[in-house]
Amino acid sequence: MSKPEPILVCVAWPYANGSLHLGHVAGSLLPPDIFARYHRMKGSKVLMVSGSDCHGTPIMVQAEKAGITPAQLVEKFNAEHKQSLQQLGVQFDLFTATSTENHKKWVQDIFTVHKKLGYLVEREGKGTYCPKDKRFLPDRYVEGTCPHCANRQARGDQCDKCGKTLDPIDLKNPKCKTCGATPETRPTKHFYFTLPKFEPRLKEWLKDKAYWRPNTINFTNNWLKEGLQDRAITRDLSWGIPIPLAGYEDKRIYVWYEAVCGYLTASVEWAQAHGKPDAWKDWWLNPDTKSFYFLGKDNIPFHTIIWPAMLMGYSEGLLKEKKLPRALNLPYNVPANEFLTLSGQQFSKSRGIGIQLPDILSKFDPDTIRYYLSANMPEDKDADWSWDDFVAKINDELVGIYGNYVHRVLSFTQNHYGVIPDRDAPTTRQLEVLDKIRETAGYAAQFIELCEFKKALRQVMALAQYGNKYVDDMAPWALVKKDRKACGTALNLGLQLVKALAILMQPFLPFAAQRIWESLGEPGKVAEASWETALEDIPAGRKLPVPKILFEKIDPARLAEKPAAAAPTAPTPAAKPNNVVPFEDFQKLDLRVGKVLSVEPHPKADKLYVLKVDIGNGETRQLVAGMRAHYKAEELLGKHVALIVNLAPANIRGVESQGMLFGADDGSVVSVLLPDKPGLKVGAKIR
Ligand code: MF3
Ligand code: ZN
Repeated sequence: MSKPEPILVCVAWPYANGSLHLGHVAGSLLPPDIFARYHRMKGSKVLMVSGSDCHGTPIMVQAEKAGITPAQLVEKFNAEHKQSLQQLGVQFDLFTATSTENHKKWVQDIFTVHKKLGYLVEREGKGTYCPKDKRFLPDRYVEGTCPHCANRQARGDQCDKCGKTLDPIDLKNPKCKTCGATPETRPTKHFYFTLPKFEPRLKEWLKDKAYWRPNTINFTNNWLKEGLQDRAITRDLSWGIPIPLAGYEDKRIYVWYEAVCGYLTASVEWAQAHGKPDAWKDWWLNPDTKSFYFLGKDNIPFHTIIWPAMLMGYSEGLLKEKKLPRALNLPYNVPANEFLTLSGQQFSKSRGIGIQLPDILSKFDPDTIRYYLSANMPEDKDADWSWDDFVAKINDELVGIYGNYVHRVLSFTQNHYGVIPDRDAPTTRQLEVLDKIRETAGYAAQFIELCEFKKALRQVMALAQYGNKYVDDMAPWALVKKDRKACGTALNLGLQLVKALAILMQPFLPFAAQRIWESLGEPGKVAEASWETALEDIPAGRKLPVPKILFEKIDPARLAEKPAAAAPTAPTPAAKPNNVVPFEDFQKLDLRVGKVLSVEPHPKADKLYVLKVDIGNGETRQLVAGMRAHYKAEELLGKHVALIVNLAPANIRGVESQGMLFGADDGSVVSVLLPDKPGLKVGAKIR
């Protein structure tokens, strides 16, 4: 077999102006992760990159709202995004940000090369200027009446009511969003990218792209049909990448011109970070490499027209200067997804409709989120997240079919044999299992390669369903009594199917697949196993550990605690009466500063510590606290902590706890509260 080609996986860069939500996951983050995980198992060289989109007015608007600088906002959300992605198991080779020096340097080079070739031309246009604030206003900072539908709250860039794209000077009765003054039109110079010059080359390149999704093709063709136009790629702004020319200090490069360059600049950054500064060329200059761009449908033309044209222009310049041996690779495929709606409504940050990732991750197993979104992926049409359907799909399919099969076989074999039994003279019916595995591995692979993830998942689920039928037919509970050897053979093949279900499901459910892997006694990581080993015999005689529970059913009652919709603009609801604590009750608590004298592991529970704490006045308290996964003993020893000292003692797994330590818990990070001002006395009251 020939070596598989290298694969570059490019993921649309989320704006660092808020938490990631399920729309991002379904639209652009989960599909590339499935795709990349699969190709790694196939032995391809894979590079998957993205990062935070740090510039543009979305960032400025949000920073202003939050009362912090754009730089602070970007740093905060870049860190949060990385954390959420890791918890969700989305495995980037690099998730960076457009705020890096490296990115700026390359973008400015691309700008310079484009300009030199006449692909950037300067032109005087009209800008909206606020005489009171004495600055040009970014599109979104102007509001007024839409000339198309008379909506009085249309923004300078677009009308949310009728959906038309606007120019701020089109608005009737325009107002500056910051101060309310009426802006005036003033001449301002900008650079324009000469998109029409690329039309013949774009059309030629698009000719053989019939394998793209219909939606991607339609959006792209519509743009071409409407006629390409020069596009302003600079703005009168102070936040963004500076223009590499003297006399342009008040302007910045437009966010869309530079963000798309991130795919290239992130590849370079990745190569440098790995000590192989030229390694990015394997993905950008190797003619065998295929690059896939995953994004939501609103981003299509930027990736199928503008970015390819930018690449063409940049390559042309570099080739002329003999800086490159060949042109940079253009996108091979742009699998754009449709939208995810929430109970029928469009996710919208501004209207507070959505489910934020940090929130849902703190309440549900990441694989349950991955499963539901994979089974219900907006590939060819919009898809809806409904909580009832979520519970039904998890309980009936993920737990009821997949988890059930794996658990039945593993636990039965573990109980009755303790090891993987021998495969001794299997029947035709039993050998059929191997055919089923081969068939499913083939179909699932084909569908994933075509970016048809929903169909691929259905194949693997059908294999699990087949497994359940196989066990019913074999009836090992009866067979084991009649013929222990024959039952062993049946189970051996059943376990082979378990192994296949771990491997073939790994791209979708990486955490569960790893738990199955360990329950089979397989060493290492299932993510590093080869797809083909789904059919490789499992070693008879190997000890089977006690299987881990794969998933638990979701109690529908838990939906009461489902993550609230993000509602940044809605007022905080008043506390419900049953949440209100009379002040007198609160005053009954004796809260104090204590000093940790000793930290011992709990003799019976591996998540707990037993602490001795000095609470002042010569008194000490013994506490049991669930901090072992979060703190090393020495990180707590000698520290001042906050605790309740007048709780009734409780027996926690055989050890008395005479108080309670305060900590903050957001579902993943646990932080003990540490009153740390020097000189603060032990025993100090907390109120
Ligand atoms: N930040 C944009 C969005 O959320 C996507 C940018 S993709 C990139 O819609 F290619 F430009 F980076
Ligand atoms: Zn309108």
